[in-house]
Amino acid sequence: MIERATAADIVAATVRPEILALTKYAVAKAAGMIKLDAMESPFPLPAAVRARVAAAAADVQVNRYPDGDADALKAALIQAFAIPPTAQVILGNGSDELIQLITMSLARPGAAMVAPEPSFEMYRMDALFAGMRYAGVPLRADFALDPDAMETAIARERPALIYLAYPNNPTGNLFDRAAVERVLRAAPGLVVIDEAYYAFADASFMPRLTEFPNLLVLRTVSKIGMAGLRLGYAAAAPEWIAQFDKVRQPYNLNAMTQAVAPVLLAEHDLLSGWAAQLKAERTRLETALSGVAGVTVFPTRTNFVLVRVPDAPRWFEALRRAGILVKNRHGVHPLLEHCLRITVGTPDENDALLAALEALIGS
Ligand SMILES: Cc1ncc(COP(=O)(O)O)c(C=O)c1O
Repeated sequence: MIERATAADIVAATVRPEILALTKYAVAKAAGMIKLDAMESPFPLPAAVRARVAAAAADVQVNRYPDGDADALKAALIQAFAIPPTAQVILGNGSDELIQLITMSLARPGAAMVAPEPSFEMYRMDALFAGMRYAGVPLRADFALDPDAMETAIARERPALIYLAYPNNPTGNLFDRAAVERVLRAAPGLVVIDEAYYAFADASFMPRLTEFPNLLVLRTVSKIGMAGLRLGYAAAAPEWIAQFDKVRQPYNLNAMTQAVAPVLLAEHDLLSGWAAQLKAERTRLETALSGVAGVTVFPTRTNFVLVRVPDAPRWFEALRRAGILVKNRHGVHPLLEHCLRITVGTPDENDALLAALEALIGS
């Protein structure tokens, strides 16, 4: 009898070695927990808005493909977020999808991506998936962007693509505007300013799109109350968007998202009220956390707070046992030693976190 190869044999012989070497991105199971790990909004929809969402969803023709260009949703976003009329917009199934398709579009053989580190991990992952050379540039010890080091890396790599998270995840700080401008001026290719946390930052490069032909501003609605819809958007000069639109899957935005997101985007007061409440809670949390023995709080312009604690794995586990899920960043990068990333929750959730920390100190 001829020995047949197993699936494992064929996988080992055919899948790219760099994929074989990876471990899957782990999304923690959170049923029944206070979820402070993923920068979601903690607020459920008010009943009246739920009813409008339900009505919009009920009208969706699920037997038909959605509008491939998602024109109505694009118009709603342009209006809601003051996107300059000279720019064009592309939508993604989350900004994750846009990061992937922008990276794929620029991954010419030999091309490089540059990003500061530590930053959002998907930049490096997508470089790997696209077969693009990746060069990380360490942030300073206080997590500031190092413009000299960035310029050196730019001169060395001549990167087709640079990602700057503004503010940065997981550090939470907002890079110095003049340092970002230096990167924009030095870069020979595209600079993506990823403004996932813009609603909490009071700073944006969106109004400056016309000033820099190599600037793309990337955003998401995930952090402002709509993570479940999976909707990201990018604005740049029409020349860029025309190319990225070729790489986009024709129906990447599903019909439910196209129907429901405009209903929520029209709720200006609700959205800005949520952001204001989270900023106020952030301030309260920063102050309270600074008073917890052994905790260092890093400045944040986002809806999360990065803290350094004496023993992050132990503290993470103690919080988990208390029913609170945060993100342990210890071991991810040397600058993040013993760091936990805590998403700002509702006042009650934040109180529960603080009480659990006090119990932990006392134990
Ligand atoms: C800096 C940054 N960019 C992009 C994303 C992805 O957001 P989404 O795919 O939900 O739009 C995140 C999510 O945490 C992020 O922190």
